[in-house]
Amino acid sequence: MEQYIMKGGNPLVGEVTVSGAKNAALGILAASIMTDEDVLIENLPDVRDINVLLEAIEEIGASVKRLDRHTVQINAAKIHAVSVDDEYIRRIRASYYFIGALLGKYKSAQVPLPGGCNIGSRPIDQHLKGFRALGARVEVSGGAVVAHAIDLVGSHIYLDMVSVGATINIMMAATLAEGETIIENPAKEPHVVDVANFLNSMGANIKGAGTDVIRIRGVKHLHGTEYSIIPDQIEAGTFMCAAAITRGDVMVQNVIPKHLEAISAKLIEMGCEVTEFDEAVRVVGRPKHWHTDIKTLPYPGFPTDMQPQMTVTLALAEGTSVVTESIFENRFKYVDELSRMGGRVKVEGNTAIITGVKQLTGAQVNAPDLRAGAALVIAGLAAEGYTVVDEIGYIQRGYENFEKKLQGLGAMIEKVDSEKEAQKFKLKVG
Ligand code: UD1
Repeated sequence: MEQYIMKGGNPLVGEVTVSGAKNAALGILAASIMTDEDVLIENLPDVRDINVLLEAIEEIGASVKRLDRHTVQINAAKIHAVSVDDEYIRRIRASYYFIGALLGKYKSAQVPLPGGCNIGSRPIDQHLKGFRALGARVEVSGGAVVAHAIDLVGSHIYLDMVSVGATINIMMAATLAEGETIIENPAKEPHVVDVANFLNSMGANIKGAGTDVIRIRGVKHLHGTEYSIIPDQIEAGTFMCAAAITRGDVMVQNVIPKHLEAISAKLIEMGCEVTEFDEAVRVVGRPKHWHTDIKTLPYPGFPTDMQPQMTVTLALAEGTSVVTESIFENRFKYVDELSRMGGRVKVEGNTAIITGVKQLTGAQVNAPDLRAGAALVIAGLAAEGYTVVDEIGYIQRGYENFEKKLQGLGAMIEKVDSEKEAQKFKLKVG
């Protein structure tokens, strides 16, 4: 079983380049099957979730050509099934984007219902409400969402809660509906805007993505395109926290600084130096950091996907910090692991109370999910001694070359597959 082993204590110093945004890529890849013409997608991150979605696209009959590690050409003219295999949804929840994409293009889709996941129960009622409002008959039958429409017709849809997935899914279906759809209370995350821009580059007419109201005028068909995915906000934020927690000095390249404002603001409150450039952000950690309070919120609020990385950073800040998780119910599972490294964190309901300590100490810990896994790695890089992180498959779902990028910043970390390799690492780093 693969693990990360690391010896902490080295400040991370240097430059790191962020990959394309995984969550934008998931929506964009699903949307790329909505035309029969060639679609070329660049700056695709080479991570597990993306590779699984590409397999699912091939499985329903589209051709997928990997032109290089980060570029793919998709042609969906020969799709033969509007039904997605259960296996893909089990491996990756975002396969639910096929409902919007297939329903828009073929007016029919059959996709297994995604279950909850490690960060909590994740209903998709708002997605289904949107499809129904567009005139589709949607049933949940045999564990799958079965949606059909004679015609999809534009509608006025108010989302009961801000949902990234529902906004993207409804936007896709509405793109090929008749007339105008208005989505009120949509998600404004950068990846929602990126999917809208991608659809527009295929001939869709979507206005207002990133604002409080999205207006979609349906078009008859979509054409091929070439599109480059935005940089990953969360990967960038993870390296920013890695710089802060190790008291390092890191230039994070290939970012859109505007997308990082909520993260930068909190690091500045803690006493870090954060400098924005056109396409980079530099974070310099200070010997002493201060406590701060954080509440996760939809964009432009503080992202829930950065909550674990920021919580571990606060574990080494002076004073008591309060972190409130308002998006997902079960996102503090890593706290027990952090306690095993000497962190002092108490969880009450959706709130974590963190009392800063002077030092974390290395331990063997388990990654409970993707972002918490990354958080435990950066905690390990700041801890005294060796840390081993198990279940790193979660981390590989969303971070490309994580250990290599960290090594480039001077981190003593390696991916190992056996006790013998772990011993070899220990002998090497001393
Ligand atoms: C996306 C991101 C995920 C991120 C999350 C919040 C992708 C692939 N994943 O997930 O990394 O953590 O946004 O920024 O982009 N909800 C409902 N009913 C619905 C839909 C959502 O109750 O129909 C609730 C969810 O349970 C959750 C909240 O709304 O509490 C936000 O969920 P949502 O924005 O939909 O998250 P995802 O799109 O699944």
